[in-house]
Formats: sequence, C-alpha cells, structure tokens
Amino acid sequence: MSSSDASDPAPQAEGAAVPAQPRYYSRFSLSQRYLHATIFTTFLGLALTGMTLRFSHSGWADRFALAVGGFSAILFWHKFCAVILTLAFLIHLGDLGYRGIFKGQRGIFWGPNSMVPRWKDFQDIYGHFRWFFWLGPRPKFDRFAYWEKFDYWAVFWGMGIIGISGYAMWFAPFVARFIPGSWLNIALLIHGEEALLAVWFIFAIHFFNTHLRPGSFPMDLVIFTGRMTEEELKEKHPVEYQRLVETGKLQAYLAPAPERWLKNFGWLVGSVVVLSGFVLLVLTLFTFFRGV
Ligand code: HEM
Repeated sequence: MSSSDASDPAPQAEGAAVPAQPRYYSRFSLSQRYLHATIFTTFLGLALTGMTLRFSHSGWADRFALAVGGFSAILFWHKFCAVILTLAFLIHLGDLGYRGIFKGQRGIFWGPNSMVPRWKDFQDIYGHFRWFFWLGPRPKFDRFAYWEKFDYWAVFWGMGIIGISGYAMWFAPFVARFIPGSWLNIALLIHGEEALLAVWFIFAIHFFNTHLRPGSFPMDLVIFTGRMTEEELKEKHPVEYQRLVETGKLQAYLAPAPERWLKNFGWLVGSVVVLSGFVLLVLTLFTFFRGV
C-alpha cells in the first residue's frame, strides 16, 4: 500500500459502512530495528548459553549442553554472541557520537526525542504510581516513556558490568598480569549474578512492559514494522502526538501500512522470543530457588 493509500480514508461505498483504513506513522527507522534485532537475538543466545553454564548441575542444562555438542560448544556460542553484541553496541555508540558531535544533532543528548532522562520522567513515575492506585489521572507520555528509557540504559549498565567481567574471564592470563588472579573469581561472581538479574529483568519486566501489558497484549509489532497507527500514537505517546500536530510535522511521519508478511514475521519471531524467554525465566527461577 502506498503512503497516499494509508493517508486517505477509504471512500465510503453508497449505503455500506466501509471501515476507514488506519493511518500509520513511522516510529523506528530500519537501522534501529536491525540494531534491536541484533541485540535481542544475541542476548537470547547469551542468556541461553550463559544460564546453561551457570546451572550446569541441573538436568535441563546438562541435557541442553549434550544436545548441542557439550559445554565447550556452549562456551563457544556464548563468546560468539558476545562478540556480535559488543560490535552492535560499539556501532551504536559510534553512530550516536557521529550524529551528536559531528552532525550537530544535539537532540540526541537532550530534549523530547532523547533517551536522556528529564525532570518530566520523574514526574511521570510519580504520576504513574498514583494512577496505579486510582489516586490520579494517567500521565501523558512523550516519545519515550520513563520505563522505555530505563530499559535502554539497562543495556549500557549491563554491557559495562557483564561485558567487562566477561572479557576479563575470557582473556584471564592477560588480565592477570595487571590485577590479582583472585579478582577473576570476583569477576565470575559478578558476571553470573548480574547476568541472572538481566535475564529476569528482560524476560519478566521488559516483556511485560512491551508486549503483555494492557494496550499492547499479546504482541506489540512496532519494533518489527517500525510503524504504529494514529490511535496508538495518540494513546501511548500523547505529548509527542500533540507536539507533531502543533509544529505541523505529523505529516512527515506518515508511512504506508505495514506489509502482511512483515506483520506475520513479527508475530512469528516475537512469539518464539517471548516464549523462549518465559521458559528460561521459569527454569532459572526454579533452579535458583530449589537448587536443582
Ligand atoms: C560481552 C559480553 C559477554 C562476554 C564477553 C561473556 C563472557 C563469558 C565467559 C568467558 C564466561 C565463562 C566463564 C568461565 O570460564 O567460567 C561466561 C559465563 C557466563 N556468562 Fe557471559 N559473557 C557476556 C555476556 C553475557 C550475558 C549478556 C549474559 C546473560 C544475560 C551472560 C551470562 C553468563 C553466565 C550466567 C555465565 C556463567 C557464570 C557462572 O558460571 O556462574 N554473559 N561469560
């Protein structure tokens, strides 16, 4: 469907009530969607292999490792995913630096389209919790809600702690030239505990916030299609919608309706990832608390 198809409401046939086509607006660029896809596939790979290493004493981990060629194969795939994730992260940092510093796009670092928290985010947290308990109206969110910013920064935090400890263990003989060898035991402890926290957070909180909460259940396809309907934009990001209308920029975001194959692809991949995450969440919670 062309953008004009999407923008012009369908003509009403005489006497028949033909539902108008929804208008779609662009939210994520293709490169942002590729970046997210790289992050979630490598994270899932790291979580699956990492948790198999961490709970190697349990039956499920043992059987899974055997099925894919043993624990050395698990470690190989863990490192493989780690390298891809690190590259994606570095490319993202490079892109931010290039656009923010060399191309002068300061809006990346501050303002309504930035991921950097603002005072409004803290007001929204307070307002949202009041709304949870029927004590006030639902806050009106801007382009990125406070929990979306939190999820974004969690990757930086995770890459810092999990990444540095991971590479320290990977290149242990080299690193041990500069730090006491016993610190590498601490690195293993930090790596494993922080990874467990990240896995529980992503597979419980992030998945709930993005796909399972009312309004998005059972699957929000925006990260696959890059587009959302006008209704969704008004409902989920009313402050952004209002600003785009007032500044006359809304039309610039108008996009064709997502193709059927892309929506089906999003459904398929999204379901596999959410289900895999849920299975891993249950297995790790069970093994952690039962100890088997
Ligand atoms: C740059 C990223 C990463 C690198 C370089 C890395 C590297 C490593 C290495 C080398 C090991 C093996 C340690 C050993 O010899 O026993 C390991 C273990 C592990 N990794 Fe990663 N890793 C990374 C990211 C992740 C992520 C994102 C997760 C999960 C969310 C994760 C979860 C684990 C777990 C649970 C273990 C086992 C820890 C234990 O035995 O207690 N890793 N990692």
